[in-house]
Amino acid sequence: MTDVMILAAGLGTRMKSRRAKVLHELAGQPLIAHVLRSAFELAPEAIFTIVGHQADEVERAVRDQAARMVEANPLVSPDLQFVMQSEQKGTGHAVMAAQDRLRGRRGPVVIVAGDAPLIEGSTLKHLCATHLAEKNDATMLTVMMDDPTGYGRIIRDAEHRLVRCVEQRDASPEELTIREVGVSIYCFDAQALLGALERLTTDNAQGEYYLTDVPRIIQQLGKRVGLLCHSNATEVLGVNTRVELADLEHKIRTRKLRELMLSGVTLLDPATTYIHQGVQIDPDSVIHPQVVIEGASRIGSGCVVHSWTRLKNVDVGEGVTIRNSCVIEDSAIRDGATIGPFARLRAGAEIGEKARIGNFVEVKKSKIGRGTKASHLTYLGDATLGERINIGAGTVTCNYDGVRKNETVIEDDVKIGSDTMLIAPVRVGRGSVTGAGSVVTNDVPPDSLVAGVPAVVKKKLK
Ligand code: UD1
Ligand code: CA
Repeated sequence: MTDVMILAAGLGTRMKSRRAKVLHELAGQPLIAHVLRSAFELAPEAIFTIVGHQADEVERAVRDQAARMVEANPLVSPDLQFVMQSEQKGTGHAVMAAQDRLRGRRGPVVIVAGDAPLIEGSTLKHLCATHLAEKNDATMLTVMMDDPTGYGRIIRDAEHRLVRCVEQRDASPEELTIREVGVSIYCFDAQALLGALERLTTDNAQGEYYLTDVPRIIQQLGKRVGLLCHSNATEVLGVNTRVELADLEHKIRTRKLRELMLSGVTLLDPATTYIHQGVQIDPDSVIHPQVVIEGASRIGSGCVVHSWTRLKNVDVGEGVTIRNSCVIEDSAIRDGATIGPFARLRAGAEIGEKARIGNFVEVKKSKIGRGTKASHLTYLGDATLGERINIGAGTVTCNYDGVRKNETVIEDDVKIGSDTMLIAPVRVGRGSVTGAGSVVTNDVPPDSLVAGVPAVVKKKLK
């Protein structure tokens, strides 16, 4: 069984941040969550995360992501272990911090840096398979970079075997011209790794224990070391600065947008469209420029989302139109509904089939029935609305009495007159009508017209 080790103790000085680097977000998720997602594809027995800076937050980020992964596939549920590296004296030192945990391990250990978020699970699998097939004691993933600045260069001998890995700051001008680099991704035999760690020194420009020295030491001990040169340089890019973070954000975003377009979604202007990795959109939906779709949002087919709208964790059915400038979170919109422009839905709003939520309407924690319309300037909170209701402009469910949130129920076929205040808890019976400007303090019986302040029954409609 394979183990994985993620190096995530560093602050990431070059980020110029108080936050640990691996907590910085890419496509809405901490860097380390991306690495974890790929690590899970190895179905590892254990995942050791080396933590230091903001150890608790990093641990939480790992546990949160792991919980999501296990929920999606309960068959892969690795033992999550956290190892404290209180002082960061280099990538080799990080692994040394976990020495005791490695002693009993038999299988291969895949080590990855927590700052390379685009790494794919398939690449880690390939690394592991190559390591086992070649019966190596260490296998190091490398890549040819057009601009290798900042990366450790790989020096090979005439037979293409590893001589050593040299860091940017330790390299001679001649060595700096080498384009093959190490990417902080390795597969080790646990016992070979332990043996080499004991011999690691800090004899280098930064006075650190370099993990990059370990393969050479293993080789010097007469063991087998392999180099696996990966063809995709983008996938193994590390994030060291915010410029690189933005660059990866652009790459990961473009990859997602491309997938969506190839699967049948029209994006009018991919350059200004921001769609997070976990978002699903069915074919024949059209996304206009400057739209942001985040979280675990799902959009059915035949929908149109217009410009300047932001959706987060929204479940959208089929044939839904979302007009300009809507902000919608944690909500559901059923087939054929129309939202906006300038609508705000949040905290569990559920908009029924063919319902219409118009401009300057806020809906919170409310269920809106099929075909019901609230077209202008309205607040619906903690409310349950039936079908075919019309809500006049300026209607407010007065749900908060200063202490409690109270519920409003409006039954089918009701017409709420403009500027009606519904003082919750209150129920408006089926088929009733409220006059403009009513302040409804008591339940309204079915088929009645109420009006006034406070509203009283004026007549029975049926
Ligand atoms: C490292 C490699 C370099 C390689 C590059 C690829 C070394 C010495 N250098 O350099 O050859 O080309 O990655 O991206 O390994 N970390 C710890 N504890 C520490 C130091 C680092 O946990 O004491 C963690 C960091 O949090 C980070 C990862 O290790 O996630 C890599 O560290 P970083 O400082 O970014 O290494 P690079 O300088 O990029
Ligand atoms: Ca790095």
